[in-house]
Amino acid sequence: MMMGYSSAPIGARENSEKDVISREAQSPTATRERPQEEPATANVKMRAGDLRAFFGKAEVIKGISLPFPENKVTAIIGPSGCGKSTFIRCLNRMHEVVPGARAAGEVLLDSDDIYAMDPVRLRRRVGMVFQKPNPFPTMSIRGNVLAGLKLNGIRPDDPDGLAEKTLRQVALWDEVKDGLGRSGMSLSGGQQQRLCIARTLAMEPEVILMDEPCSALDPIATARVEELIHELQKQYTIVIVTHNMQQAARVAQYTAFFYMGELVEHDETNVIFTRPAQARTEDYITGRFG
Ligand SMILES: Nc1ncnc2c1ncn2[C@@H]1O[C@H](COP(=O)(O)OP(=O)(O)OP(=O)(O)O)[C@@H](O)[C@H]1O
Ligand SMILES: [Mg+2]
Repeated sequence: MMMGYSSAPIGARENSEKDVISREAQSPTATRERPQEEPATANVKMRAGDLRAFFGKAEVIKGISLPFPENKVTAIIGPSGCGKSTFIRCLNRMHEVVPGARAAGEVLLDSDDIYAMDPVRLRRRVGMVFQKPNPFPTMSIRGNVLAGLKLNGIRPDDPDGLAEKTLRQVALWDEVKDGLGRSGMSLSGGQQQRLCIARTLAMEPEVILMDEPCSALDPIATARVEELIHELQKQYTIVIVTHNMQQAARVAQYTAFFYMGELVEHDETNVIFTRPAQARTEDYITGRFG
């Protein structure tokens, strides 16, 4: 397990600063170039390029470039208000739905510009799971799983088969199979969140965006969702916002640290949590601020 965050000594602050300085002395661009390094073994499924996001005149994402390798989990961490939710909402064009909000820059899915796509079709390819489980309150469990398709006017050939398949994927089938007609709201919070993930999966997306998907869950439900993320990455590319450092360390191969609308550092997760290049990253992960 990558538990460097909680157990490995990160070392005295002076040392790490010296490391950074000596690295910079050897090569003036070494630390700056590191985040741009491409993962050697994975394709990049999605990529933000100089992405900017505004609410009215306020620029809250200030030019972020970040690759999302295929079939990998990328975690986004950073203090409250730094722009994590805004950033991931730009990746499926949910940001621009807010009145007065706009985005600039580039987001590529495979090699296609998402801002040239039909947003409804894009959101089928890039699904989203929210912080608070939000099953449709008037719908049954089965109805919830199929709701996204219905809203998009898609009629699956075998709706019952699809509902079973996706509920199995989120490991909820055995718990609900005898009561598929029950209200989605009759489930526990953790079950509701798995139901919402099933609703996203039923759309057969390629990328799944998750904004603090476990923040309303207890440790057991959280562990189940984390196991699920681990399974899902075999088939999907996942971007997860989390305030929980251990969670990032457990589920993500890559981690990006945001601060005040900017990307401070992006690297393999174990590097971010054991030997970050930037003092601000180290301050955050060791709890010195944020
Ligand atoms: N609807 C909105 N209108 C105006 N400003 C907004 C709106 N939503 C967010 N902001 C501002 O944009 C900035 C980024 O907010 P965002 O919600 O992306 O942060 P976050 O990193 O997700 O924070 P948290 O960890 O608390 O969820 C903040 O300064 C916030 O006040
Ligand atoms: Mg947020």
